[in-house]
Amino acid sequence: MWSWTILTLSLAGMALPVASQSALPAQREAGVSAYPFGMSSVSLTESRWMANQNRTVNYLKWVDVERLLYNFRANHRLSTKGATANGGWDAPNFPFRTHAQGHFLTAWAQCYSTLGDVECRNRATYFVAELAKCQANNAAAGFGAGYLSGFPESEFTALEARRLSNGNVPYYAIHKTMAGLLDVWRHVGDNKARDVLLALAGWVDSRTSRLSYDQMQAMLGTEFGGMNDVLTEIYLETGDKRWLTAAQRFDHAAVFNPLASGRDQLNGLHANTQVPKWIGAAREFFATGTTRYRDIAKNAWNITVGAHTYAIGGNSQAEHFRPPNAIAQYLNKDTAEGCNTYNMLKLTRELWRMDPGSTAYFDYYEQALLNHLLGQQNQADSHGHITYFTPLNPGGRRGVGPAWGGGTWSTDYNSFWCCQGTGIETNTKLMDSIYFHDDSTLFVNLFTPSVLKWSQRNITVQQTTAFPIDGKILLTIQGGRSGGDEWTLRIRIPSWTPKAEVSVNGEKVQSISTTPGSYASVKRVWQSGDKVEIRLQMKLRIVPANDKPSVAAVAYGPVILSGNYGSTSLSSMPTLALGSLRRKSTGSLAFTATADGKSVELGPFYDAQGFNYNVYWATSGQLPADV
Ligand SMILES: *[C@@H]1O[C@H](CO)[C@@H](O)[C@H](O)[C@H]1NC(C)=O
Ligand SMILES: *[C@@H]1O[C@H](CO)[C@@H](O)[C@H](O)[C@H]1NC(C)=O
Ligand SMILES: *[C@@H]1O[C@H](CO)[C@@H](O)[C@H](O)[C@H]1NC(C)=O
Repeated sequence: MWSWTILTLSLAGMALPVASQSALPAQREAGVSAYPFGMSSVSLTESRWMANQNRTVNYLKWVDVERLLYNFRANHRLSTKGATANGGWDAPNFPFRTHAQGHFLTAWAQCYSTLGDVECRNRATYFVAELAKCQANNAAAGFGAGYLSGFPESEFTALEARRLSNGNVPYYAIHKTMAGLLDVWRHVGDNKARDVLLALAGWVDSRTSRLSYDQMQAMLGTEFGGMNDVLTEIYLETGDKRWLTAAQRFDHAAVFNPLASGRDQLNGLHANTQVPKWIGAAREFFATGTTRYRDIAKNAWNITVGAHTYAIGGNSQAEHFRPPNAIAQYLNKDTAEGCNTYNMLKLTRELWRMDPGSTAYFDYYEQALLNHLLGQQNQADSHGHITYFTPLNPGGRRGVGPAWGGGTWSTDYNSFWCCQGTGIETNTKLMDSIYFHDDSTLFVNLFTPSVLKWSQRNITVQQTTAFPIDGKILLTIQGGRSGGDEWTLRIRIPSWTPKAEVSVNGEKVQSISTTPGSYASVKRVWQSGDKVEIRLQMKLRIVPANDKPSVAAVAYGPVILSGNYGSTSLSSMPTLALGSLRRKSTGSLAFTATADGKSVELGPFYDAQGFNYNVYWATSGQLPADV
């Protein structure tokens, strides 16, 4: 494969100075048959997605880096340079302070990679250089070599001894820092990020290698983020088995064992503690070829998506998994923690790469990105602040109430919740899963206005669409070899569409199968200027609650609709007369219906901000056949 040639060069040179280059893994992955494009190959064009990206990029370029360095410097006994300390989860007395900074590193790196934004790059490399100074002062601060954090190393002594008095989750924070450094290394090509990362990984290895298996497993009872994931990534990047061994120490048997045999024992577990471990399992399968890891990751996904997921693609209530299929019973203000969906999307993308013939993965990806994460960000705020939970109670509202128990928006300096961190990542990688490829195939998995530069084939693919307002998607192919180039275009035909059509240069292609829930495949010698049009029919459909099918959300195509209740509070779930649903205009997703005998306006849940909404309804009757 072409990439292995480039790989040799990039490893030999080690320096990866420009945005168009991403570090390519040293270790070939097992069991994958489709590959993402580098982030610098795909850019968003004008759309709802791009508006989200813009708001987050504003915040990333505005936030005071010195304030974000405060806890690291204070902990490593360096001057805080007169900076103000942050509040919220980055306050100087917050147990796992400095968990957020790794998310900023990742988001700055992504911002640079996709937009070529030099300010984002400079922030990332400055931050890394300052972290290197913190790490270099470890002897004076009394820490072991390589340690890097905003809280003292003694937190790990307490963790290993299971003295859990202060609710600290120190490896959770370390994981974020490592993931951020890895992304600055990979996406920016900053070798200092690699050096700081490998020194910190070395500290993790020496800290954990002296524990017995039983001590390690006991310690894994405390949330540790994706330590198995990031260490496996480092192994895949460097080829050094030391990191794989360290990663596998973080395989949490109590969670992995039931999942390996497909048993759903998630009830009562803290949800976002588990999902990163499953991403790690997927990555450990790529690194080792051990199918047990694959089974753990696939079964975890299947169980979570099938039995623990709300219509908007989110899971968890009060941060926890509830009994299998318990959906209607848990429509509360604190449903659908943002981080869980961010992590489920990461998992979904890796599982699809093992099984690129299955549309179920990107059907879910689309569902969760559109209906949960897109609307999790405040459109009225130029810094794109987010909610922690997405309330699904009748008359719920984003941006109201305390963070836990409701959905208040995050703030510039006084929140720094986990979901704020994953939110800035999400909104700087909205382009990373639209297209994938193998040697002779281009996959289109998501319908998002964007441009792909497939440099390997010297072509540009422009995707133009008003999706999801309508189901018409145009792909224009430009460039390539003179005389054309043969490859296969594979387009996800979602399972929600009743009917799909594909035409090439204005002619409907009869021989292409467009069965919903499959990939439509167009193999031909492509010429510059070729146009592919995809038409996905959209219809109203209901998404019943697993535990009570008479309770349901309503969707139009992929879009979950919600009722607009203004400032009216609802004391119980309204009953929607399904037969009364009407679309108001073909140019928007505005609908009307009758609920509890009164008229209600419905629109996309991703736009339901600034008013009380309703997502799940008691239902009566049948949907109209023709809407
Ligand atoms: C996003 O920002 C870019 C650069 O400033 C601007 O050209 C574009 O119009 C903005 N798009 C949206 C949807 O906000
Ligand atoms: C989970 O696996 C079962 C058995 O293969 C399958 O029927 C079901 O559709 C899967 N669930 C999801 C959400 O894909
Ligand atoms: C790449 O495509 C451009 C047109 O987009 C063309 O001018 C150029 O000759 C192509 N390069 C190669 C190596 O085929």
